Amino acid sequence: MNPVVDKPELAEPYMFGWLASLGLGVEYTRSQKDSLYYRDTSGDEIEVLDLVGGYGSTIHGHNNPEIIEYTKSLLDSGSPIHAQFSRHPYANDLAWTLNTILHREFGDDEHYQVIFANSGAEANEVAIKHAEMDRVLKIGEALAEVEAHIEAAIAAAASGATLDASPLPGSDLDEVVAALRAANAERAATPPVYLAPEGSFHGKLAGSIQLTHNVAYRTPFTAMAAPCRFVPLDADAVSAAIAAESRTLFDLAVDGGVIRVVERPLPVISAYVLEPIQGEAGIRVLDADSIARVRERLDAAGIPVIVDEVQSGMGRSGAFFAASHLGLRGDYITLAKSLGGGVAKAAVTLIRSSIYRTDFELLHTSTYAKDSLSTLVALRAVEMLEADGGAAYRRAAERGDKLLAMLRSLRDEFGDVVKDVRGKGLMTGLEFHDLSGSDSDIIAEQAKGGLIGYMFSGYLLREHNMRVFPTASATSTLRFEPSIHITDEEIARTETGLRTLIGLIRDEDGKALLG
Ligand code: F0G
Repeated sequence: MNPVVDKPELAEPYMFGWLASLGLGVEYTRSQKDSLYYRDTSGDEIEVLDLVGGYGSTIHGHNNPEIIEYTKSLLDSGSPIHAQFSRHPYANDLAWTLNTILHREFGDDEHYQVIFANSGAEANEVAIKHAEMDRVLKIGEALAEVEAHIEAAIAAAASGATLDASPLPGSDLDEVVAALRAANAERAATPPVYLAPEGSFHGKLAGSIQLTHNVAYRTPFTAMAAPCRFVPLDADAVSAAIAAESRTLFDLAVDGGVIRVVERPLPVISAYVLEPIQGEAGIRVLDADSIARVRERLDAAGIPVIVDEVQSGMGRSGAFFAASHLGLRGDYITLAKSLGGGVAKAAVTLIRSSIYRTDFELLHTSTYAKDSLSTLVALRAVEMLEADGGAAYRRAAERGDKLLAMLRSLRDEFGDVVKDVRGKGLMTGLEFHDLSGSDSDIIAEQAKGGLIGYMFSGYLLREHNMRVFPTASATSTLRFEPSIHITDEEIARTETGLRTLIGLIRDEDGKALLG
């Protein structure tokens, strides 16, 4: 029994008010596998089929018995959870296991160093911070080279070399060198820029929010961090963005007794960031050929690629890394969500050895990151995916195909209501046609307000005991991210709920939808 206490809501109260208005303000009191349970007003326990899956955190299901038993055993054993700045062999075990998977899926044997974090957004910030540190160090290295060239030019001038016409002010070498240094100091301070495909979502911390395309989430904070250019997934568009951001440093070259002022590239674009399957943009699987062409342009410009597998990773796509379907081996790879086994908060950033800056380890640390509980649970969650020769990946692919086939059959049958069905493995979405012109005022208003998907969520929960949410930045797409244990019966239940929903949309019955 919940005690009746006259306490105003202080924990994000407006969010709760909004959820309650749509019938989504339910308190779940128990969970198992793909089910959440709440108690109705008469105290009876009601089972809800959960297709949100902790926003992608429950690839093994809620309260997976093996993970729960293991977690309990860790707690019972009294093993230290917080022992920062000591030896953490379990963290190395996780790093090695992730490397083994990476080598298998990408057919390459380069190692990736692993930095530990607490959330998906933080893992992405680790990647962008490292990329920025690398950029700054490269600029420092370039400036050191310029200084060496200045020394060489001064020596050459002493032996009679002459100064060619210079684009910089100054009548002699000393003046030109002073102008060159001043110009380079200004240019070297050019702030970094990121590139990302349109629709990207990479988290909501001060840095990562700038990589998140959604204008409402991003723009209040534009002054806080480096900006991102959102570019279509097209090689020429990416080249155009690279050209638009291209800057140079001045340098000196001595050739045949002549000293010339020359220019050399200044790295400005810190990294290109993408999700192999975009989640919040409405479940969009990136095209392998397009990404390969984009990658060529990025490689030519020396721009590293951050692959955000926070939502798409951990086996959901039918492989551990969704990017392995695209043949895209990131320079940085981030994981979170299901890495915590549905129990812990765990995140990691994998960084290619060939670009790894060892000093970074002191520059990004966090009190909770790499704690034994979350790291050991993460290791177990990964090992469970790897068990039986990767049976979990096959199951994700098979279950996902079944779910997608069902959704596609709805699209084929109700093409006037369902616009598209997309996805791979257990990361699937169903998009509705725009309903802002509906004859039902309720439907039109919700569609114009960008909340239509949440109204559908309220309906499905109320009438079908199904928990489904839209994607955060494309709210007319419902996403389905159950665990690998979803059954045929649960997929059939999903179909029944969606069929009734589609019928009401077709009949423009806003009242029935709003309840
Ligand atoms: N990257 C991706 C691809 C995500 O989908 C998310 C979160 C994050 C990073 C941030 O992770 O929340 O642990 O900081 N996606 C949530 C969602 C919000 O709706 O699926 P976080």
